[in-house]
Amino acid sequence: MSSFGIHQIGEVKIEKESCCIEIYQPYISGLRHIEKFSHIFILWWISMRDNPTDRSNLLASPPKLEKPVETGVFSSRSPARPNPIGLTKVKLLEVKNNRLYIDRIDAIDGTPVLDIKPYLPGDSVKMSDIKLPDWFKNLKD
Ligand SMILES: C[S@@+](CC[C@H](N)C(=O)[O-])C[C@H]1O[C@@H](n2cnc3c(N)ncnc32)[C@H](O)[C@@H]1O
Repeated sequence: MSSFGIHQIGEVKIEKESCCIEIYQPYISGLRHIEKFSHIFILWWISMRDNPTDRSNLLASPPKLEKPVETGVFSSRSPARPNPIGLTKVKLLEVKNNRLYIDRIDAIDGTPVLDIKPYLPGDSVKMSDIKLPDWFKNLKD
């Protein structure tokens, strides 16, 4: 098996009334035209779960279920996983210099950001085409 190198391009900043992605200086020119997109994907490092115990985890129990279910980690959004990579689709509100202001993100302040990609029409799936296990059926987002 191979290992790959990843460079942190920025970090999540959670402030009192706003949140943003702050891009580090060497990567700023990669932001050109990002403001033309309404939504973007943020790929981030689930930094506090980057430890041998969490990274050896292959099972997960989705939270808040009346009837608990144990599922494989790759069928879940669990933060405890072999490669602690977080993926969040966000609304891009404003771009100010090296800061991308967004509507929300489920990452904590200071979380390392690995990559940003635009959300494209081909990324969406019609609700009627989506198949889900029963325990996810009541989730809205
Ligand atoms: C369940 S994970 C899902 C993340 C992402 N939406 C995904 O699907 O990959 C989201 C949770 O990770 C936790 N979290 C956020 N930032 C973190 C960090 N830097 N290290 C560890 N846990 C973090 C928070 O409790 C948050 O609710």
